[in-house]
Amino acid sequence: MGTPSSVFVFDTPEQLAVAAAERFVECARESGDELNRFSVALAGGKTPKRVYELLATERFKNRIEWSRVHVFFGDERAVPPDHPDSNYAMVWESLISNVPIPAKNVRRIIGEGNAHENARLYENQLQTFFAGATWPRFDLVFLGMGQDGHTASLFPGSEALNEKSKWVVAIRTDGLKQVKQERVTLTLPVFNHAARVIFLVTGQEKAQVLAEVLSLKDRRDGSDLLPAQAIHPVDGTLEWLVDKAAASFL
Ligand code: 6PG
Repeated sequence: MGTPSSVFVFDTPEQLAVAAAERFVECARESGDELNRFSVALAGGKTPKRVYELLATERFKNRIEWSRVHVFFGDERAVPPDHPDSNYAMVWESLISNVPIPAKNVRRIIGEGNAHENARLYENQLQTFFAGATWPRFDLVFLGMGQDGHTASLFPGSEALNEKSKWVVAIRTDGLKQVKQERVTLTLPVFNHAARVIFLVTGQEKAQVLAEVLSLKDRRDGSDLLPAQAIHPVDGTLEWLVDKAAASFL
């Protein structure tokens, strides 16, 4: 069992975003590997966008040594990098294009072409970066959560939830009606070997699933744990930053 998680409730999504940006800065200043590299896996979706925008403002960006920051992605949709659904496009617009991070330090998951091949290529990139490791150890991971309890592109009922050896997998979309495109995602063991994992969750529509996920009890209907419940760093910390609306059933 991993470290118990901590839940922090903020009055507004803006306050939550500021707190997340502060954690990024703190982590980027205090952690890193023996090669002085700070590695972060970013979440897609709407919630973290404001965090990335804040990191690119004067208040935050001058406090970060961008040359040692290495940006990875927790998941990607099967779309080109300039598509409105691309996580890379969102992070590029909100953060990467506005900070002095070397281009070689940003590793996107390719969205165009064959998803299985793209998963394999990304796993190779990770294995080169985290050379010799059994599992990668990100200094920081941001995750979001959907109303169905999915996180990254790990959806309820997906066979990817049982992955025990691959670092990156393609997600089959048949039988997953909530998923528009094929996706590529890092796997549960990868997230669970990170040093620090931070969930960002806002909005009343996520209140019920958040209460269920944080109850850490078996689900009412006896089905498997929700994907977000399976995130428990084995040797790291887990924090939930949630706004008042999302926390309304806690
Ligand atoms: C993605 C994600 C996904 C996201 C949740 C929450 O690529 O969509 O990484 O797991 O974090 O769906 O998304 P919102 O923040 O948009 O609610």
